[in-house]
Amino acid sequence: MAEEILSLTGDNQDKVSQLPLIHGTLGPSVVDIRGLYAQTGYFTYDPGFTSTASCSSKITYIDGDNGILLYRGYPIEQLAEKCDFLEVCYLLLKGDLPNGSEMREFVTTISKHVMVHEQLTKFYSGFRRDAHPMAVLVGVVGALSAFYHDVTDVTCHKDRYKAAIRLIAKMPNIVAMCHKYSTGLPFIYPKRKLGYAENFMRMMMGDPCDEYVANPVLIRALDRILILHADHEQNASTSTVRLAGSSGANPYACVAAGIACLWGAAHGGANEAVLNMLEEIGDVSKIPEYVAKAKDKNDPFRLMGFGHRVYKNYDPRAKLMRQTCHEVLDELNLNNDPMFKLAMELERIALEDPYFVEKKLYPNVDFYSGIVLRALGIPTEMFTAIFALSRSVGWIAQWDEMISDPELKIGRPRQLYRGVAKRDVKPISSR
Ligand code: SDX
Repeated sequence: MAEEILSLTGDNQDKVSQLPLIHGTLGPSVVDIRGLYAQTGYFTYDPGFTSTASCSSKITYIDGDNGILLYRGYPIEQLAEKCDFLEVCYLLLKGDLPNGSEMREFVTTISKHVMVHEQLTKFYSGFRRDAHPMAVLVGVVGALSAFYHDVTDVTCHKDRYKAAIRLIAKMPNIVAMCHKYSTGLPFIYPKRKLGYAENFMRMMMGDPCDEYVANPVLIRALDRILILHADHEQNASTSTVRLAGSSGANPYACVAAGIACLWGAAHGGANEAVLNMLEEIGDVSKIPEYVAKAKDKNDPFRLMGFGHRVYKNYDPRAKLMRQTCHEVLDELNLNNDPMFKLAMELERIALEDPYFVEKKLYPNVDFYSGIVLRALGIPTEMFTAIFALSRSVGWIAQWDEMISDPELKIGRPRQLYRGVAKRDVKPISSR
């Protein structure tokens, strides 16, 4: 098929730039502007990258207008119902779902790497007990690069895969230790024979004096939460991991950068912020007051858990999360949970309000996840750490795809300079 061209004419009508269009499998085509500056002397300008494709990828596809999310082509609804989190990890890393023997081998490989170096546990004692778990997580995951820098050659596919396996295997242990450290209770070692989500919950909630008895409904709910948060195209934290990795940095250091970015309330920190907001609203009667604040341009308050850069329709993960909410609260006889009722009423009111309708602000994945995690007994400040636990597989899969991309270049954006033009330094006596 003849290459499609976008023609641009300059201000003086004589400069015409021929920019090729590139078409993907699904979604918007892109204008290849790699030659724009050389041809025209112009940069593009797109703070926040609202109209910019930073890379090509085969991992995740999002259709924001139709509320579609695919991991390697599989709809998130089917994966959440028919797979478990480790199957999804295999899918994101390798490009397809495993068969029985491939899955058994993958589970065995992961289980061999669940322990962390005993020296790594010493890092926790350097933090205050009341340090935010995300601050601890950034530090400890970054410290993994000190344990594996000499055995990780990022140019070697086998080393990259080993780094992915180590990260997936060790994150539940590292995240659970963030919680345990804050309680003063001893760290709980993983058990190789337990499933991924059960192992994590036992390390999080168990104690050495009693056998941890898992509730299969709650374990399944947590596993589903991990599936829903595993990857999401080029979101802020994934773009951070890619940019850090484009310089050839150690993968664990890159993931630590992603954790730092995820912490923000506009991104992964929203699940914790949603629960804090619901607790602040407190009662259905106060919802109109807070909706009004969210609409007030002079008020920085935003309705946490609402809105999304890409989804201008319902976030498909929010629907699945609401369903998981019902299952967990029913299982725990909490279906009269005031927080859940408040959330559902807030959702109803907001979705009827013209401001939210016109701006296409729908509940996102974070709106209900906090309620489920709270019902599972997980403290609010650990919510984003669990998001990071899940997203680690997306980050490392995207990092691996980038490093193996023959088009890889170090990420180095330019700018629109609006500072002072060139001037000479005067001696201090005459300033
Ligand atoms: C995640 O990118 C991803 O994929 C992220 C994520 C993932 O899986 O990685 O999906 C996870 O981060 C989900 C989002 C969690 N964040 C929140 O729930 C925080 C609340 N949401 C907002 O901060 C906001 O909606 C963002 C940050 C999510 C999206 O911001 P955008 O795309 O930059 O949109 P915007 O700020 O330009 O908002 C457009 C308009 C603005 O009004 P105008 O200036 O046009 O008049 O909508 C308004 C905003 O004021 N608006 C909101 C709002 N979100 C946007 N108004 C009230 N409450 C909100 N929540």
